Amino acid sequence: MSLLDELRQALGPDAAAHVLTDPDLTEAFGTDWTRRWSTRPLAVVRPGSVDAVGAVLQACRRHATPVVTQGGNTGLVGASVPQRPGEVLLSTTRLHRLEPVDPVARQVTVGAGATLASVQQHARAAGLVYGVDLAARESATIGGTVATNAGGLRVCRFGDTRAQVTGLRAVLADGSVVDRLHGLPKDGAGYDLVALLVGSEGTLAVVTDVRVRLHEPDPRGVVTLVGCRSVAEAVSLLPARGPGLRMAELMTRDGLDLTCEAADLPFPLPSRWPAYLLLDTPDLPDLPEGIEAAVDARLVDYRERHPDAIATLGVVHKYDVSLPLPRLDEFLDRVSARVAPHRLYVYGHLAEGNLHLGVVGPDPDDDQVDATVLTLVAEMGGSIASEHGVGAAKAALLGLNRSPADLAVMRAIKDALDPSGILNPGVVLV
Ligand code: MLT
Ligand code: ZN
Repeated sequence: MSLLDELRQALGPDAAAHVLTDPDLTEAFGTDWTRRWSTRPLAVVRPGSVDAVGAVLQACRRHATPVVTQGGNTGLVGASVPQRPGEVLLSTTRLHRLEPVDPVARQVTVGAGATLASVQQHARAAGLVYGVDLAARESATIGGTVATNAGGLRVCRFGDTRAQVTGLRAVLADGSVVDRLHGLPKDGAGYDLVALLVGSEGTLAVVTDVRVRLHEPDPRGVVTLVGCRSVAEAVSLLPARGPGLRMAELMTRDGLDLTCEAADLPFPLPSRWPAYLLLDTPDLPDLPEGIEAAVDARLVDYRERHPDAIATLGVVHKYDVSLPLPRLDEFLDRVSARVAPHRLYVYGHLAEGNLHLGVVGPDPDDDQVDATVLTLVAEMGGSIASEHGVGAAKAALLGLNRSPADLAVMRAIKDALDPSGILNPGVVLV
C-alpha cells in the first residue's frame, strides 16, 4: 500500500477532511512564521486521537518517510516545517481537549494542540493562572511550547515551560506510547522522561497531552516603562528576582521607534532613550530621582508588537540568545560591529539576559551571519538558544554550546528512541 493510502487508513473516517495533499492547502503549513524556511509537505495529517498519531508514525516508519510535528506554526527556528521535500507534516491542532482543572493539585491536563490562550483562559475560569505567557498566545499551542521549552514574558515570575510541566503523554516513532500524566508531585522511579521530552523539538517523540501546574494569581500590579541611558543602566534598575518581579523586558531605541510606526502607537515617553526597561511589579518600582518613566498596563503592547514590526522589514535573521547580565552592553557593541552594515534590532527578556536580535538585510540563506553572531555569543559565555529552540537554524552550531561528550549522549538518545531517524531530521542534531 502506498504511504498516502496508509495515512488515510490511519485516520479512518476522518481521512477525507484531515489528510491534505492539495498543494494549495499544504503550502501554508510548510512555511514558518519567519518565512526563512519553506518546503511544501508531501501531506498534512491531522490525527484526532493518540491511536491515530501512533498509526501515522507507524505508516511513516514503514515507508522511511520523515515526520515533522507542527502546532500553531509560530516557531522561529525552522523546527516545525519540513526541511526537505517529501516529508509528512503531523498537525496537532485537533488534539485540543481541555480536562477539568484539579483545584487541589492545582494542575490540569490538556491536549498538545490546545492554544496557549485557551489554556490560560481555562485556568483563569478556575481562579488560577498558567505561568507561561507570550505574544503568540492565540496561535501557539501547548505542545509547541513544550517542544521548544518556551519562555516568554513571565519566566522571571514562574519559570520556563519545563518548570510548569508535571507530566505528558507522547507517541514514539514505533507507535508505542509513553504515558507520564499522573502528575505526582513526588516521583523518583527511574529516568525523568518528561524532562527529556520537554525541549526535544519533535525529534524524540510526538507529544499528545500535557499536564501542567497552575498558580495562584498575583494581585494587580504596576506596569512601568523606564527610559535608560544604556542597557547596563536598565540592568542596574532590575528589582531582585522573586514575587516582586513579574516581568522585566528590554526594548531599545530603533525597535521602539519602528514598533510605534508600524503599529501606529503614540510614542510612550517624553524623550527617546538608548534603552527602555518595562517592569511589572506589585507596587511602583523604586527608581532614582530624575528618571523618565510612564505607568500604564497597556505599555506591554509596545514590547509584544516588536516581532511583527520588525517582520515588516522583510525576512529577518532572528537570534534568541542569553548572556551574563554584566556583559550585555559589551556584547551589543561587539555584535553591532560584526553584523554591520546590516541593521540590528534588539529587545528581550532582561531578567534572564535573554536578547532577541533581528538582523535585517542578509539573504535568507546566508548562514555566515548566523555563525558570526552565535560564535560571539558562545565566546562571551552565552547560550545560542534560550527559548525558541535549536531547530534547523542552529543545529550545525550546537557544538558552540555543547561538548563532544554532550553531543554524543544526545545522539545516543536520539538513535535509541528513533532508530530510523524519521522524527524531524535535521533539527537539533545534524
Ligand atoms: C518575543 O519575546 O517576542 C518572542 O520570543 C518572539 C520573538 O522574539 O520574535
Ligand atoms: Zn521572547
